[in-house]
Amino acid sequence: MNPRTRLAMVSLACLAGLACSPQDPADSGSTSDQASPVSSEDDRTDVHSYARPAEVAVRHLDLDLDVDFESHRLRGTATLDLTRHGNVSEVVLDARDLTIESVQANGSDLQWSLGESKPYLGAPLTVQLPDGADRISIRYATDPAAAALQWLAPEQTAGGEHPFLLSQSQAILARTWVPCQDTPAVRFTYSATLRVPPGLLALMSAENPAEPSTDGVYSFEMPQPIPSYLLAIAAGDLEFRSLGERAGVYAEPPLADAAAYEFEDTSEMIDAVEALYGPYRWGRYDLLVLPPSFPFGGMENPRLTFLTPTVIAGDKSLVALIAHELAHSWSGNLVTNATWDDFWLNEGFTVYLEQRIMEALRGKEYADMLALLGRQDLKSTIDDLPAEDTHLHLSLAGRDPDEGMTDIAYEKGRFFLRMIEEQVGRERFDTFLQNWFESHAFQSVTTAQFVDYLEENLIAGDKELAEKLQVEAWVYGPGLPQNAPRVESRAFTEVAAQMASWLSGRARIADLEANDWTTHEWLHFLRGLPEDLDAEQMRELDQQFNLTSTGNSEILHAWLHHVIARNYEPGYQALEDFLTGMGRRKFLKPLYERMAKDEQMKQRAAAIYAQARPGYHAVSTATIDEILGWTGES
Ligand code: BES
Ligand code: ZN
Repeated sequence: MNPRTRLAMVSLACLAGLACSPQDPADSGSTSDQASPVSSEDDRTDVHSYARPAEVAVRHLDLDLDVDFESHRLRGTATLDLTRHGNVSEVVLDARDLTIESVQANGSDLQWSLGESKPYLGAPLTVQLPDGADRISIRYATDPAAAALQWLAPEQTAGGEHPFLLSQSQAILARTWVPCQDTPAVRFTYSATLRVPPGLLALMSAENPAEPSTDGVYSFEMPQPIPSYLLAIAAGDLEFRSLGERAGVYAEPPLADAAAYEFEDTSEMIDAVEALYGPYRWGRYDLLVLPPSFPFGGMENPRLTFLTPTVIAGDKSLVALIAHELAHSWSGNLVTNATWDDFWLNEGFTVYLEQRIMEALRGKEYADMLALLGRQDLKSTIDDLPAEDTHLHLSLAGRDPDEGMTDIAYEKGRFFLRMIEEQVGRERFDTFLQNWFESHAFQSVTTAQFVDYLEENLIAGDKELAEKLQVEAWVYGPGLPQNAPRVESRAFTEVAAQMASWLSGRARIADLEANDWTTHEWLHFLRGLPEDLDAEQMRELDQQFNLTSTGNSEILHAWLHHVIARNYEPGYQALEDFLTGMGRRKFLKPLYERMAKDEQMKQRAAAIYAQARPGYHAVSTATIDEILGWTGES
């Protein structure tokens, strides 16, 4: 079962030399002929944006917005500073479901037009630029159904008293709340003023306040240039807890203590990555624990990682996720995929870094358990996907970039880097990666650029090494090449042995030495259980280990698969509570998919979904609607 849903550095100076983006991203190509290893300028074309940054590029954004919880709208102005490359007379921005009221420069109205809106891409917003108009102000409002934003009623929060607003811009949802060049190839700095109801704390992916203001007005500054998908906003009843000199966590008051305990190791993680890959370049690193509807485990918004509360297990057992989001401060936020076809440069590198951080904090055995779980995920993803979608370099033209969010980018990417590390030795590879981040900092890079850099700086004409690495096969070929690293875990082998004795009747349930199992050993156990356990075995397991009532979201998720597969009724209430109580797509998707396989279960799924759907973020409903063939109104 694939737990993740389907879903390059070019500096502006480089981009300026290219004439690339097509007028209509939706029409820009078939998917079949793009597996060519040839490095070409076309690699830089972002087929998921209408913007033509080679002509005019946004260099700074200033937002001035009212956050209106009554109408579920942001309303105000986005002022864009533009750099023109040559003699151009218009700028094209991305906009989806935005109401544009006016566009001005130097106090005068400019001509603008919105083109036809397409599914997931939205519409091109074209603004005529007279001479000297290098700063344009767009007055606009968002739609209540803006896909990036979720407006929560008080009862959908932990505190229950105040409303909450959260955003999710990756991959191409920033255009639903800010008119911008919504492509990872463009970076800009930003500043913002937000007005929220007094009493609420407003936060962004920027320098943030630690305390609520009395008048509800907040100012933000992001002095480092970032791509649009890292724009983020949140507002709610939030408290701050320090986690050291440069780290902290914001959470709703009822969760603040638990969050501060769970994420205690954050500063140590920052030190660990810095020791490996160079200085943290973003100032502070804070976490924001969101209400349970947040559709992802985490999102690496710069200076402020957004997190699901389902990562708070009480025993720090799921904090590899913090390591992951922190690692993006190097792989992703500092060195960014230039297009969504290069997504593995963000996620594969990040999973590799995450593994190194966890190894530094918890040791190799621990990190190898994580790697082995990832290896299992990768295997089922490769089995499920058409071969052409298992290349590291993707071909997402004509599709929502969300479809690239599979274990290929994450896990095949990780094992590619791990394989290189094993072939050249850790020391040499660490230096190589550190140089890669350093030399491409604040740039957006293509897969071809990485491959060239690897050839020049690591392979460097060593034919034998090139033969061993098989770079082409990994990057532009299907599946998992033969030289993929083998991962072993003694702990997992032991878990499997115990399970085998129990299943064969050689041992009784009470003989399982599971009391000291870590979360990851439990996950290995639950994933390895046959789907045809009998009712008695399900009951035995549950009685012995209280699986139905576990507070660990990952363990519960793995257990609920068996609850569904075996029609284990004592688990139904927990299944329903889980599906209605949180909106994390990685958990929702496989459970609804499993339920949809059986007609009776599918009906149950539809009933649960009808109840849960209004509480989910648009990112999750887009996926689950499809699984259940949902046609009801939203
Ligand atoms: N950047 C991703 C989340 C994302 C990717 C959102 C693509 C939208 C489009 C984030 O870093 C991530 O990978 N989150 C994972 C966590 C993980 C692999 C530890 C998640 O949410 O499951
Ligand atoms: Zn990630």
